[in-house]
Amino acid sequence: MSVLPFFILDLINLRKITVDLSTKTAWVQAGATLGELYYSVAEKSRTLAFPAGACHTVGVGGQFSGGGYGGLLCKYGLAADNVIDAELIDANGRVLDRKSMGEDLFWAFRGGGGNSFGVVTAWKVNLVEVPSTVTVFAVPKVLKENATKLIHRWQYVANKLPEDIVIAAYVNRINSSQGGDPTIQATFSSLFLGGVDRLLPLMQESFPELGLVNDDCIELSWTEFALFLAGFPSNASLDVLLDRTPQSITSFKAKSDYVKQLLPETALEGMWERFFEKDIESPSLIMVPYGGKMDEISESSIPFPHRAGNLYKIHYYVPWTEEGEEASERHISWIRRLYSYMTPYVSKNPREAYVNYRDLDLGINNLAGNTSYKQASIWGRKYFKNNFDKLVRIKTEVDPANFFRNEQSILPFSSW
Ligand SMILES: Cc1cc2nc3c(=O)[nH]c(=O)nc-3n(C[C@H](O)[C@H](O)[C@H](O)COP(=O)(O)OP(=O)(O)OC[C@H]3O[C@@H](n4cnc5c(N)ncnc54)[C@H](O)[C@@H]3O)c2cc1C
Ligand SMILES: *[C@@H]1O[C@H](CO)[C@@H](O)[C@H](O)[C@H]1NC(C)=O
Ligand SMILES: *[C@@H]1O[C@H](CO)[C@@H](O)[C@H](O)[C@H]1NC(C)=O
Ligand SMILES: *[C@@H]1O[C@H](CO)[C@@H](O)[C@H](O)[C@H]1NC(C)=O
Ligand SMILES: *[C@@H]1O[C@H](CO)[C@@H](O)[C@H](O)[C@H]1NC(C)=O
Repeated sequence: MSVLPFFILDLINLRKITVDLSTKTAWVQAGATLGELYYSVAEKSRTLAFPAGACHTVGVGGQFSGGGYGGLLCKYGLAADNVIDAELIDANGRVLDRKSMGEDLFWAFRGGGGNSFGVVTAWKVNLVEVPSTVTVFAVPKVLKENATKLIHRWQYVANKLPEDIVIAAYVNRINSSQGGDPTIQATFSSLFLGGVDRLLPLMQESFPELGLVNDDCIELSWTEFALFLAGFPSNASLDVLLDRTPQSITSFKAKSDYVKQLLPETALEGMWERFFEKDIESPSLIMVPYGGKMDEISESSIPFPHRAGNLYKIHYYVPWTEEGEEASERHISWIRRLYSYMTPYVSKNPREAYVNYRDLDLGINNLAGNTSYKQASIWGRKYFKNNFDKLVRIKTEVDPANFFRNEQSILPFSSW
């Protein structure tokens, strides 16, 4: 195999963040982490926030390029929906802003994925309002506590809730407490933009089956929530968010699916069977509800197309610590089989996927340059649906020589 030239551009020193309270906006340089952004906003205001991801060590450069969702997605949409200007260096080395690049190019890299259109050096974002008190809960239920029925029921409820609440469901396999057989644990994990006094009646009305009680709930300020999300106690000093080192680094394989029709209980049970297969270290999945603002934004507003019609997204995730080729193959093969099992139950034509959970199983560009339009449109449409064609057109205009490329970058017509 020939070695293609490539370069690594280290953005670590491009981390300045300027928050402007008078316009409720911020300029964020592209090498900053989400934690650094959340820190800078919290330093200036206790009731402003930015709707991006949960993990504070993730970079804004890649995340905003592919969408970027977190606990505020049903209220305010994605990070990329809230980008209002950017500074980008194109394939000709020109430094452009929204005005000089024009609306087409500005559209393309807010959800069209990193590394196709240029190097973003800074984003300008709109900050959003959050209340001074929010409430969180995480209620775990194992199979014996009707976890399957609750997930099944959650599907009906989660994407029809008011925009002020998001309840995600985390599923993993745990050992039973009395040393019995392993079981499946579903954890219903929520962010509510308000106090517990409003949350309890809302839950009683919409999802009484969960049996949420006051003791399950923790009220936090928005700043404490940022710490909570990052896994720190609420009295920790805010600057822990500035730590750029991920808490755990292991090998993993992830995939994603969009669900448009309720899964029958038997489909869930079939998933659990796969979770019980032996020698798979930590099978897990996260179900994230859509609805609210996500339903209101049109499919073509930005390249990220997964809007109205989706009940929720599934993020399948399997990490492993065991060394060696065989262990990697075992875990990767496991998640591929799970994905294959899910085929009848999830979105079709295309089977949609989230570009920020890059999945090279969906197909890759031949970096030597002979990938056909037909091949590339297979994964292109999964990530972008019909926005793929517009992405190709814009790529052809701004980078006809395909300077910016990777295994799943958008290809210009000229390379077909
Ligand atoms: C622990 C963890 C938690 C996550 N949680 C969430 C979540 O809650 N919500 C969510 O939406 N996603 C989440 N993700 C997915 C995450 O959004 C993607 O992995 C994203 O690509 C990470 O961006 P990065 O800049 O950190 O990574 P990188 O690997 O540096 O970048 C990813 C891609 O974007 C390109 N890129 C990066 N910076 C730029 C730039 N400035 N200009 C042009 N191209 C650029 C890179 O070339 C690369 O192709 C999570 C990922 C991890 C590892
Ligand atoms: C599980 O659901 C059944 C009814 O379907 C109910 O009788 C039982 O009490 C529930 N178990 C728990 C632990 O909630
Ligand atoms: C669960 O049980 C298995 C087998 O008994 C053991 O190897 C594993 O370490 C246990 N996991 C946890 C998290 O306790
Ligand atoms: C936070 O609170 C815990 C107990 O609730 C205490 O042990 C710890 O010292 C506190 N940490 C800080 C930084 O105040
Ligand atoms: C592209 O090139 C590779 C290697 O040169 C070759 O194996 C492959 O068949 C080619 N694909 C197409 C679609 O021409």
